[in-house]
Amino acid sequence: MILVPGVGTAEDFQKVDARGKVAVVNRGQIPFGQKARNALTAGAAGLIVVNNEAGDLHGTLGERTVLPVLAVTPAVGAALREGQPVTLRVRVHEGEVRGVNVVAFKSGVTQPDWLFGGHLDSVTGAPGANDNLSGSVAVLELARRAVNTPIAARSSFVLFDGEEDGLRGSRVFVKDHPGVVQHLKAMFNFDMVGVNVMPLAVGGDSELVKAARQAVPTLGTFRAGGDSDHAPFSQAGVPVLFFHRGLDEHYHQPGDTLADPALIRGAVDTALKAVDAVLSVASAGK
Ligand code: PHE
Ligand code: ZN
Ligand code: ZN
Repeated sequence: MILVPGVGTAEDFQKVDARGKVAVVNRGQIPFGQKARNALTAGAAGLIVVNNEAGDLHGTLGERTVLPVLAVTPAVGAALREGQPVTLRVRVHEGEVRGVNVVAFKSGVTQPDWLFGGHLDSVTGAPGANDNLSGSVAVLELARRAVNTPIAARSSFVLFDGEEDGLRGSRVFVKDHPGVVQHLKAMFNFDMVGVNVMPLAVGGDSELVKAARQAVPTLGTFRAGGDSDHAPFSQAGVPVLFFHRGLDEHYHQPGDTLADPALIRGAVDTALKAVDAVLSVASAGK
């Protein structure tokens, strides 16, 4: 067994020789799947991730790995000694799980011009108030506000399942509905809008970001990477705008139990203003 200093980045593994050994790293900073990949690249025979807060760690690798990976409490982690022989017994249960996307549109709408989306799942052990009940409620509220307005006839509203397991729901939606997706002028994604780590910010397509910020000058910006449900749409060529308030301290933790309705409403109000501006840009481009 070898204690790798740090959280298991590629650089951390470069500082030690983990070949053929069970590597021990700390939780944090990078996804568990990335730690496993780095351990595998370094030639490790197994990986132990030590929790950075009291109690068990219920994480998700998000991908298949041939490496045995185990998570332990800080107490167990602190008792591990460099070079100590360990046996890693990992029992993996593989099976199919069913996920369900919730898709809503006004009766008769077959080619919506835009889509409001957010994920409805959360990770094991985290109740998911901010990640992502907040985004789901934002999408529901947008649907409610669209009723009996011209917006309804042009919108679709989707709550995606399996975001935390690798954007499963949004990837399947994009794959299964190419006709709908190709027609979209914009996709608006809501992930974590119920806690203010930073004031409401947008990321995604630069034209849409610009238009939204002209309409709502208080909007901040952030870099929207490949890690939420906008990504499959973006890859399919749909301009995306992602609303987000930052990763709070309870992110993916048991403490994710609070989301502020006023902040969610604020995101919806801002989104509706931004959507107007964004759509004039999107229509000009299509
Ligand atoms: N999509 C991530 C999650 O659900 C959260 C996230 C949002 C990460 C924005 C980076 C940027 O866990
Ligand atoms: Zn999450
Ligand atoms: Zn999320």
